[in-house]
Amino acid sequence: MTMTAAQARTAVCPGSFDPLTNGHVDLVRRAARLFDRVIVAVLVNDQKTPLLSPDDRAAIARETFADLAAVEVETFDGLLTAYAARRGAVAIVRGLRSAADFDYEWPMTAMNRRLQPDIETIFLVPSPEVSAISSRLVKEIWRLGGDIGGLVPPAAGTRMRARGRAGR
Ligand code: PNS
Repeated sequence: MTMTAAQARTAVCPGSFDPLTNGHVDLVRRAARLFDRVIVAVLVNDQKTPLLSPDDRAAIARETFADLAAVEVETFDGLLTAYAARRGAVAIVRGLRSAADFDYEWPMTAMNRRLQPDIETIFLVPSPEVSAISSRLVKEIWRLGGDIGGLVPPAAGTRMRARGRAGR
């Protein structure tokens, strides 16, 4: 039976992805097994000072997930729930590495539900091998001259080297 666009189940995987890590890769690949379409949504305007531009961050994700037909990459600005509704998403997918992640996620989940009750937030637990990786620590190691091999996908390493340790 063929599926119409209206029947396709879309999930949004939102984040700063500054940079995309192997933890994010694990998460998006898991999401792609559960949903017909997964949109990796790169946040454009954040309070934090990013290492990489939104375009670089999106390009890294596009290259990394080029083998997955179900995965699309976009940048977004403004409210996540409004964006997810515009894209017809039934779910927002986030990763849970630890109890600390839960404490960070829970208020956002509650507010997002209030804003958009029809969109369910779903948490996926990443593989233990990547559970200690965070973009924050990757950036710190990178800025201080450390080796980030094995922590980020090759496309991220390439762009980060091109931009230098100080970033864009
Ligand atoms: O990778 P991050 O930085 O943990 O991702 C955070 C993100 C992008 C999910 C969050 O900051 C977000 O949703 N920002 C969009 C603005 C918004 O909707 N804010 C209200 C959240 S309750």
